[in-house]
Amino acid sequence: MKKTEICIDREFRTGEVDERIFGSFIEHLGRAVYGGIYQPGSPLADEEGFRRDTLAFIREIGVPLVRYPGGNFVSAYHWEDGVGPAHLRPKRLDLAWSVIETNQFGLNEFMNWAKKAGTSPMMAVNLGTRGAEEAKDLIEYCNVPGGSYYSDLRRSHGYEKPHDIKLWCLGNEMDGPWQTGHKTADEYGRLAQETGRIMKMVDPEIELVACGSSNMGMATFGSWEETVLDHCYDEVDYLSLHTYYGNGENNTADFLASSVNMDAFISSVVSICDAVRAKRRAKKKIHLSFDEWNVWYHSKEQDKKIPRWSQAPHQLEDIYNLEDALLVGSMLITLLRHADRVKIACLAQLVNVIAPIMTDGQGAWAQTIFYPYMHASRMGRGTVLQTIVKTPVYESRYGDAPYVDAVVTENKREGTLTLFTVNKNLEEDMELSMDLRQYEGYHVTKHIILTHDDLKAVNTRERPQEVAPREGGRSQVSDGYLKGILPARSWNVIRMEKWK
Ligand code: AHR
Repeated sequence: MKKTEICIDREFRTGEVDERIFGSFIEHLGRAVYGGIYQPGSPLADEEGFRRDTLAFIREIGVPLVRYPGGNFVSAYHWEDGVGPAHLRPKRLDLAWSVIETNQFGLNEFMNWAKKAGTSPMMAVNLGTRGAEEAKDLIEYCNVPGGSYYSDLRRSHGYEKPHDIKLWCLGNEMDGPWQTGHKTADEYGRLAQETGRIMKMVDPEIELVACGSSNMGMATFGSWEETVLDHCYDEVDYLSLHTYYGNGENNTADFLASSVNMDAFISSVVSICDAVRAKRRAKKKIHLSFDEWNVWYHSKEQDKKIPRWSQAPHQLEDIYNLEDALLVGSMLITLLRHADRVKIACLAQLVNVIAPIMTDGQGAWAQTIFYPYMHASRMGRGTVLQTIVKTPVYESRYGDAPYVDAVVTENKREGTLTLFTVNKNLEEDMELSMDLRQYEGYHVTKHIILTHDDLKAVNTRERPQEVAPREGGRSQVSDGYLKGILPARSWNVIRMEKWK
C-alpha cells in the first residue's frame, strides 16, 4: 500500500481561519432565488415566502457570508427595481442569462432572508452599465440611518434601521468579454477607484473587493490584476479570484489535479498584489476574495436549449457526483492552506444553481458537494497549521499532482485538531501517518469518510443519501502517531480531541 506522511508543528501556523472563507453565493439566476430560497405560496415556505427546507440545510452547513445579487446578473441590474411595493416593480430583461427578471425578490427580501439564514451579506454593485452615482445611492439606501433621500426611501419601505452592509464587490468579472459593460483593465481600474472612494465617503467603515481575473486562463491574467491595483490599491481591501473546473473529457485523474491549478492561481495573485505593494512602498496588504469557486460543466449543453426570456428556468443545474465532491474537498483544503491571504471565499452557488442544495416542489436534498463544504465550515474554524504532506505524485495536465491533499486546523478554544484530507488514488487505499507527539493526550473522536464504489454516483430526490458520509474510518493515535487508512477515492475528516 502507498504511504503518506503528514508533518505539523504546533508553532508553525499559516494563519487564523477567517470564517468568511466558508461563504457562498446567491445570484438572480435560474432557480436560485425563485423556487430555491423564495417561493411564496408554497407549503414549504414561511410567512415571508422563504423556503424553510433550504433554510434548514443552509443552517446545517453554517454559511457565514452570502454574495448577492450576482454574478453576471449584477452588471445590468437596477437595484431600485427590487425595492418598494412588489406590485409596482418592473419586469426586466436579464441580459446576462437571457431570461426575465420579475424583481419580486430584491435587496430588502434578501436582507430579511439573510437574517433567517444566519448569514451576512456581501453586496455587489453594478459597474457594467452603471457607475459611481448609482453605487453611492445604493450604499446611502443601505447604510445611512436617515435624513437623506435614499435613506428615507428605505425607511418608507419599512426598514427604519439601516442594513449596515459592510462588504461590497465593485462589479463582477469586468475582464470577461461576456460581461455586460465589459471593460479594459484601465477603464475598470479607474472606475473602481472612483466608485470605491465615493462609497467610502458615504460609509468609511465598509470593505471593498475589486475584480481580479475571471479565471487564470484569461489572456489578460496577471496584467489585469496589476493594472487594476495600480489604479485602486488605496481604495480597495481585497482582490477577487474566480475559478470553475470540469471533467468534460472524463479524465478523473486530471480533473482531481485541478486543485494544483487553484493553488498556483492563489500564489500568483498573492505575488502580484505584493509586487504592486512594493512598487508603492505601501504598508497596506491586499487580501484575496475567492468569491466564486466550484465545479461547473454538467449543465452547459442542456442550458443551450433554454428558450430566451424564460422565467426562473432550470439553469446551471449541475448534478454532482462523487468525483466532484472530492475536488470540492481538495479546493476547500487549498483555500485553508492559504488562510494567511485568502480571507473571503464563496462556493458558487448555494441553491439549485451549481449548488450543494437542490429543491423541487416537494422538498430539498443535499448534493454530494454539500458534505465536504459542511464539514469544512463546521469543523475547520480556528488556526491553520502549516501542513507538510509527503505523498506520492502522479502526472497530470497540471504537472505532478499529489495523491493526497491535506490540511490540519487547530481550535484551541474547543481543544480540537482536525485533519481534512482527500485520497485521489482511484484504485488504492493509502496508509497515513502523522507525528502527534507535540499533542500529547489527543485521540481520534471521529473519522468521517465520503466515498462510493462508483465515481459517478449522485444524490437524487429518489435516492438523496446515495453518496453520504459515514463515521467509523480506520484511524487511531498510538505511541504519539496518528495512524490510519484513507480509502481509495475518498474525502476524510479526522477529528482529534484531548482526553479530558
Ligand atoms: O456563477 C455563475 C457565473 O459564473 C457568475 O454569474 C459569473 O460571475 C461567473 O462567470
